[in-house]
Amino acid sequence: MSDIIVTQNDHVLELTLDRPKKKNALSFAMYEALAEALQSAQKNPAVRVVLLHATGDSFCSGNDINDFLSGTNLDPTTAPTIRFIEALVALDKPLVAAVQGAAVGIGTTMLLHADLVYAHESARFSVPFVGLGLVPEAASSLLLPRRVGPAAASDLLLRGTVIDAVRAAAIGLVNEVVRAPADLLAVARERANDVAAKPPRAVRLTKALTRSPQAEVLARVHEEAKHFADRLTSDEAREAFTAFIERRPANFANFS
Ligand code: COA
Repeated sequence: MSDIIVTQNDHVLELTLDRPKKKNALSFAMYEALAEALQSAQKNPAVRVVLLHATGDSFCSGNDINDFLSGTNLDPTTAPTIRFIEALVALDKPLVAAVQGAAVGIGTTMLLHADLVYAHESARFSVPFVGLGLVPEAASSLLLPRRVGPAAASDLLLRGTVIDAVRAAAIGLVNEVVRAPADLLAVARERANDVAAKPPRAVRLTKALTRSPQAEVLARVHEEAKHFADRLTSDEAREAFTAFIERRPANFANFS
């Protein structure tokens, strides 16, 4: 039971994050299941578009912080997180995402690998790596400034600013804000089906031509991952994770 639901509707493969009680925090098993589903989507000619969405009131609250604290699976080359990110980078078919509520950490950085992002008006995006004693991941140190510009990227990455759907659309992180009573998933499905009906090879070539080169992105993924793995066991990160579990503010006053 990985809390990932995989369904195929015509040419669109849907991946649903389904751990709503934990705001869809990603466990190692969920990363593995996502990586596997993306790898088979890549190979399966019946899949033309992948649609990623989530159940509950949040899209994804990031990596499961208990897994960060456990200190396992930290190898920056084989960690399930890295397998998932590599599968995202390798996917040559369009990735569409539908986001509601919180999109924290990898909940936002995975969107930098999506081609079309639809956000419900409730969506809130943040990449609070620095505040957790960590560094950016999923090539976000490369892709976020490219996507939203260096000023907005610094606000998000250095200050840990939380932005709403309207701001995210204004800086180019999302394509469209979906407001009630329109249904987010129905809108995203309609857009995904529309792309899936287009000539598939032309679609794949256009994606390849409009994305940052895979080799460059992968190199950054692995460079970040080395720092990330080191940081996970740092005193700063331990304090931040423990503070989250204990539901108190983190205190970095005595760190140098
Ligand atoms: N890892 C593990 N558990 C998480 C989690 C995460 N990333 N995010 C949320 N949860 C759990 C909470 O511990 C809580 O569990 P409990 O009901 O057993 O106590 C449950 O999910 C609900 O979260 P809660 O914080 O009560 O919901 P909220 O609506 O007040 O806030 C968030 C939602 C997403 C804003 C908040 O949970 C949060 O900030 N999460 C951590 C985000 C983060 O730092 N992720 C890592 C990024 S690298």
